[in-house]
Amino acid sequence: MLGRIRLLFKKEAPARDWLNMNEAIQELTVFLRGEAMRHRISLKTELDTDLPAVTGDRVQLQQVVLNLMMNGMDAMRETAGRPKELLIRSCKEGSSGVRIIVEDTGVGLSPEIVEKMFDPFFTTKRQGIGMGLSISRSIVESHAGRLWAVPRPSGGAVFEFTVPAGS
Ligand SMILES: Nc1ncnc2c1ncn2[C@@H]1O[C@H](COP(=O)(O)OP(=O)(O)OP(=O)(O)O)[C@@H](O)[C@H]1O
Ligand SMILES: [Mg+2]
Repeated sequence: MLGRIRLLFKKEAPARDWLNMNEAIQELTVFLRGEAMRHRISLKTELDTDLPAVTGDRVQLQQVVLNLMMNGMDAMRETAGRPKELLIRSCKEGSSGVRIIVEDTGVGLSPEIVEKMFDPFFTTKRQGIGMGLSISRSIVESHAGRLWAVPRPSGGAVFEFTVPAGS
């Protein structure tokens, strides 16, 4: 935990690994499969088979996807009456960057939450620290990408981030 907070303030240049985001996503879905099953969440991926490799810090970018997946799963904890689905998609962004999209069918994003959720230490969770999204945004921006959220029209949230080529 302290390590994660430190990471936010360190502003160290990210490592420049040559990496395939699909592989990073697949590793995480294996890692979170049991947790998803326990909460009756169906975990799905739609990965672009032509996804270009990008340069970036594998550990940091995987941390971003993990944070978004955990948030999506948390958001579905108390929703009843509709299927709990976490969908992770990848696609090309521009000519050689990538975009990752994490979509849930959870409680969704109220305007008050959208306004503050990227702030450090903003949390609505009893056990939350409120650093996940602010750390994630700083990681993505250090890769010259963008991280944002949009409401999902039929309920839930969609978080998207880009990793430009050669960032
Ligand atoms: N997918 C989502 N659906 C609905 N609300 C969300 C979602 N992701 C984040 N939020 C809201 O944004 C807040 C901040 O998220 P963030 O990841 O920064 O912190 P956290 O999850 O509360 O704590 P942690 O530091 O453990 O990640 C959450 O407490 C929640 O209210
Ligand atoms: Mg979080």
